[in-house]
Amino acid sequence: MSEEEPSSDVVRRERFSGGPARRFLSSLASDERIFRADLQVDRAHVVMLAEQGIVDESEAADILGALDAVEEAGHAELPDGEDVHAAIETAVIERIGDVGGKMHTARSRNDEVATCLRHRLREDILELAETVIGFREVLCSVAEGHTETVMPGYTHLQPAQPTTVAHYLLSYESALARDTERLVAAFDRTNRSPLGGAAFAGTPFDIDRERVAALLGFDEVVENSMDASSARDFLTETTAAAATLATHLSGIAEDLVIFANKGYVDLSDDYSSTSSIMPQKKNPDTLELVRASAGDASAGLNGLLTTLKGLPRAYNRDLQRAHNHAFDAVDAVLEATEVAAGAVATAEWNADLLAEEAADGFSTATGIADLLAMQGLPFRTAHEVVAIAGENGGDFAAVEAAVEDVLGGELGEYVDPTAVEAALDPETSVASRDSLGGPAPESVAAALERVSADIAEAETAVGTRREALDAATDALREEVATYG
Ligand code: ARG
Repeated sequence: MSEEEPSSDVVRRERFSGGPARRFLSSLASDERIFRADLQVDRAHVVMLAEQGIVDESEAADILGALDAVEEAGHAELPDGEDVHAAIETAVIERIGDVGGKMHTARSRNDEVATCLRHRLREDILELAETVIGFREVLCSVAEGHTETVMPGYTHLQPAQPTTVAHYLLSYESALARDTERLVAAFDRTNRSPLGGAAFAGTPFDIDRERVAALLGFDEVVENSMDASSARDFLTETTAAAATLATHLSGIAEDLVIFANKGYVDLSDDYSSTSSIMPQKKNPDTLELVRASAGDASAGLNGLLTTLKGLPRAYNRDLQRAHNHAFDAVDAVLEATEVAAGAVATAEWNADLLAEEAADGFSTATGIADLLAMQGLPFRTAHEVVAIAGENGGDFAAVEAAVEDVLGGELGEYVDPTAVEAALDPETSVASRDSLGGPAPESVAAALERVSADIAEAETAVGTRREALDAATDALREEVATYG
């Protein structure tokens, strides 16, 4: 414990400024994440106050100048404070005197922190969405080269039906497409301004909430002032979207760990690790860590929901410990997405071994049953025939014998034997399953076309939101410059 007397900040002055709980109360260190957001929020608020005649233009100019200097100095140079909001205000007052205290007119740290969190999180959401889209592009480009690479498909970890590497990879692209939609939806509800809600009960000052929202690039305001200061569901839905994404990442990571173990796929050395004792080992450690990031994400979601549950209206200090759950989860999932994308982009699929194993375990059984059912046999009877064939080796002779056994006649009486031969072949089996969304190379080629159009659309959706934020940043900078 430091012997140093903690200095007082502008919010607490001498009251409540010391005491053993001071460090416990302070969020200043972790508030580094919202340092820049807070400066932007301060700037927009001061511009609005000046426009509304609540502060003089010259006062606004002094405050805005001080904010630039505080930004220049950086978060590490802030004076001690209960949080970044108090510390920045203290720093402004230290630079320009008491007039700096006008910055906090017509607002509270309650609406201020809520605004900073949304301002910062929307950047994080866009970065995550961009990274997810990048992974989707990787999945598509690898899939393009493997529409005819037959592989065993599994249920319950048992060979079930042959499919292709492209079809497998695109199944994850589909999941990540929904993750992208969820992130964009979370962005849109995050991108609303609570500023002006004040402590929770609004303000008698003639503020312009819409103007502040526009200056900060928010699409609209969170109207009800009590909701504005209290709401944190933008954190939960973003974290839920990240946690859902993480479950998908953990699934593909697990598959690749298994596939690498079977020799179906060779992971690049860049995404593998060695054992410190066993020289022959090449371990899929990075993918195991991707798999584990689902733990970080769900911990974040759980921490957040537990912290928020049962909080009374309107502001309670518990909220200070809510948002880091979201930021930590988003960070972990962002990194995991980048690594998973890199691992998939650099992995080599072993087509020969995959083709060989695709026929294993009588994986074409369903195709044989389908073939018999197509001749008019009830599917359940066909299923029985093929199950018996499977028990007896699952080859052509076994099918012949099972037909005779169950149906009483020769195979040729029920179905063209060459069609049976063909259906036993994994490649033909895959090619026959050309229903919408199926693994047949032509179905997957059609899917790939739709998917690239969807990816382009998602890029536009994220890109326009990114541009709107950048435009708001530029516009605010220009607005501030007019006070020079
Ligand atoms: N650091 C606080 C937080 O993150 C800011 C709000 C403090 N408000 C208060 N009434 N104590 O929530």
